[in-house]
Amino acid sequence: MTEPAPAAAPWERVYLAPLAGYTDLPFRRACRAQGCRYAFTALVDAGALAYRNPHNEAILRRGEEEVWLGTQLLGADPELIVRAARLLNERQFEVVDFNLGCPVRKVTQRGAGAALGLDRERALRCVAALVATSVHPVTAKIRVLDERNPAPTVALARGLAECGVRAIAVHGRVVERIYAGPVACPVIAAVREAVPVPVIANGGIFARGDAEELARLTGCRWLMVARGAIGNPWIFRELADPAAPRPGNEEICAAVREHVEGMIPLYGERNALRNARKIILAYLVGRGYPRELRARVTSLATRAEFLDLWQQIREQGPSPHFNPDQDHGTQRFLALE
Ligand SMILES: Cc1cc2nc3c(=O)[nH]c(=O)nc-3n(C[C@H](O)[C@H](O)[C@H](O)COP(=O)(O)O)c2cc1C
Repeated sequence: MTEPAPAAAPWERVYLAPLAGYTDLPFRRACRAQGCRYAFTALVDAGALAYRNPHNEAILRRGEEEVWLGTQLLGADPELIVRAARLLNERQFEVVDFNLGCPVRKVTQRGAGAALGLDRERALRCVAALVATSVHPVTAKIRVLDERNPAPTVALARGLAECGVRAIAVHGRVVERIYAGPVACPVIAAVREAVPVPVIANGGIFARGDAEELARLTGCRWLMVARGAIGNPWIFRELADPAAPRPGNEEICAAVREHVEGMIPLYGERNALRNARKIILAYLVGRGYPRELRARVTSLATRAEFLDLWQQIREQGPSPHFNPDQDHGTQRFLALE
């Protein structure tokens, strides 16, 4: 007897979200290895790009093998956005996204990110300037503006579509909620029905069941994973195949090694190891690795120290008493906080 064909997933595309401090080339490579096709760099500030802050080089670095990569601009000044867009024109990206959702105070205080999302007229001027300048298709990433009333979010999304954006990602939480709490699916659904461009639903995907629910409640065929991929690139495998196995110790250790080693040429050894601490912890947390090994991650400073600890992690592995059924992405992530 032949196996029944698995039910088709209710989504067409799954994007890796822009995540500042995370979605650099080594992070994306870990996700690509598990089937991620559509991915974004972290945000780049238009002013920092225009003034050629060297920090942006690491953010914008693209792997030759990457088939689809978007980048994201943050800004609130059309003039700087135009200058930044010209610089991005010299690089290869499948889209340039515009950030209208960042809740960080330093950003909102200067009228960018989520603050710009609340100032529709100015937001549309910025996006129109970007669309007019960019050789790349432009998309936008917004937040739900009011979780009870879809009208303001729909009005912003309609304006963006009229400006020429090709897709709109909607994070279903208002700015006051930062990244916590329920996702306002009815508002995302209302945006999807109101605009002629694809809407990407974002918020709270930590496991396959979350993606199924987000797709069902929003009607969106394009979804975006953010925190659920931190320390868990295997989420892309799980989303592609409901029968995909959980990663075992060898697979986890191989991914950690490759990810961290990939950061060294990008940032230099010291900075790489400093940035890698949270990455390594994210891979280990919630997977039964002994606390004392995890504690040592927080002081790693050199590649040699990393390799020494990595060897121990690999040999020791997770506790035999660990119940992998507890391995749910949400719990893992909350344990990280
Ligand atoms: C550490 C961190 C960094 C983020 N950086 C960005 C960013 O650069 N650009 C952006 O549009 N959103 C950023 N976000 C928001 C995520 O892309 C996403 O919208 C949000 O986390 C909700 O999705 P989730 O519930 O699946 O995590 C960031 C979120 C976190 C937690």
